[in-house]
Amino acid sequence: MSRVPIRYGARPCALVVCRGCCCGDARKNPAQDHDGQLARLREAAAASGGRLLVRTSDCLGPCAQANVLVVQPSTEGRRRGGRAAWIGWSADADCLDEILAWTAAGGPGIVPPPATLELQMIDPPKN
Ligand code: FES
Repeated sequence: MSRVPIRYGARPCALVVCRGCCCGDARKNPAQDHDGQLARLREAAAASGGRLLVRTSDCLGPCAQANVLVVQPSTEGRRRGGRAAWIGWSADADCLDEILAWTAAGGPGIVPPPATLELQMIDPPKN
């Protein structure tokens, strides 16, 4: 996949990683390496040369689909019609592989998501 160049003043793709009451909680999802997930995403952002941001959030709402992660489009992706993609059950390595490949290729609005990642997309809360 080709990379989208960064323009001055443009925001890159961003991942909002939920770390509220359920997402990232080893008592609720003990089979997942929650700290490892976040570390991997942060390492990818650090290695991206500014093409990817990662931040955490308190509970985003849909706890039943933990771990929840939101892929926000870059400025260019939003200009092309991309919108935030909410992804549930996002703690396993395959899911992270797909999220990182998608964002490296430009993310929402630039390239379509991998088909298997689309199966994990959820609706944002309606509040
Ligand atoms: S803790 Fe992540 S959606 Fe509630």
